[in-house]
Amino acid sequence: QHCFTKSEDGYLYCEGNKVQDVMEVVEKRPFYLYSKPQISRNVEAYKEALEGLNSIIGYAIKANNNLKILEHLRNLGCGAVLVSGNELKLALHAGFDPTRCVFNGNGKILEDLVLAAQEGVFVNIDSEFDLENIVTAARIAGKKVNVLLRINPDVDPQVHPYVATGNKNSKFGIRNEKLQWFLDSVKAHPQELKLVGAHCHLGSTITKVDIFRDAAVLMVNYIDEIRAQGFEIDYLNIGGGLGIDYYHTGAVLPTPRDLIDTVRELVISRNLNLIIEPGRSLIANTCCLVNRVTGVKTNGTKNFVVIDGSMAELIRPSLYGAYQHIELVSPSPPDAEISTYDVVGPVCESADFLGKDRELPTPTNGAGLVVHDAGAYCMSMASTYNLKMRPPEYWVEEDGAVTKIRHGETFEDHLRFFEGL
Ligand code: LLP
Repeated sequence: QHCFTKSEDGYLYCEGNKVQDVMEVVEKRPFYLYSKPQISRNVEAYKEALEGLNSIIGYAIKANNNLKILEHLRNLGCGAVLVSGNELKLALHAGFDPTRCVFNGNGKILEDLVLAAQEGVFVNIDSEFDLENIVTAARIAGKKVNVLLRINPDVDPQVHPYVATGNKNSKFGIRNEKLQWFLDSVKAHPQELKLVGAHCHLGSTITKVDIFRDAAVLMVNYIDEIRAQGFEIDYLNIGGGLGIDYYHTGAVLPTPRDLIDTVRELVISRNLNLIIEPGRSLIANTCCLVNRVTGVKTNGTKNFVVIDGSMAELIRPSLYGAYQHIELVSPSPPDAEISTYDVVGPVCESADFLGKDRELPTPTNGAGLVVHDAGAYCMSMASTYNLKMRPPEYWVEEDGAVTKIRHGETFEDHLRFFEGL
């Protein structure tokens, strides 16, 4: 069951609500529309997959940091994965249990590490200098820090280079030839560091579970090696990265169960607790960016549908050439002409497109047009370029009610940054 469906009447629905009707009652500007029940269903899929294992679902906050969504994920039992001090503060604000949170990153600063140490979150060691900073933070906080070694296993995730992280020339993690140095350094700081596990994150939008399996095999070997040196470590963190069906072709993609099943036996054989760090696969498919068609134009051999949303609200197509499915929210007349369009925004950049070469019935001005799978890395990567202020967010609740979950930014918000200067 998926939250956004085209019904036989030709209208797009979200959990029983006509998206067209939602457009009538909310602000006249691009907005994000989520399904709260779909978020619950996505978490449930992971929980069912993890049954019988000791595990933490660490939701990667970078994917979407809406406070209401975070509170919902916390209520569903998720932990959180953080990459900045502000994400840590937000996780605490949303009520996440800090002992079920992991602080990641290749450039963690001392101030944020001190907060992490005080709160008792797991911290991943990413480099030599990172280890030094974590030791210093532990001293300042007067707390021993539970650390994991972020090992870079050099497994090719077969994804866009901008979202690959676990290959040997990546800026993230440590290479195995340095493992001994890190183990010796942890040993040298028994007051400050307690090594509890090993972590890897291969990349994002991964659509083959064998890749996770290959990494997990390498990781449990490292864990054996680390344990052989007397460390009592219990956690294997295999990161996030499971892809989703952006193309809407009905292709069968690996599910959370497929992912967990490929590593389950390895985890059990070493008596480990499993941490996973999903972002996209929990939140991407729960949301559409809803836009209005401003007009249609033709230049040279290209047809354009110009909408009010843009790369400012949703940058993935511009940044990664990512495909996100696009459709109109209302039926077109049966005789409507179908043409090939680039769907573009009003921003002054030729990179401002939401979709290229899409077959669409010629839309009327004012028609609703959605960009699907916009729950992850869309609002959280939105900017105010061209003073397109960040859009409001709504969700459809279990009872079908449409509720605002974040105010849209306004022009007045922009002026506030200059007050009193
Ligand atoms: N854990 C770590 C250490 C990560 O770096 C990431 C994502 C995740 C977990 C969550 O990965 P996910 O399950 O969401 O794939 N902006 C890009 C994606 C960047 C991902 C960064 N790291 C995009 O829009 O595709």
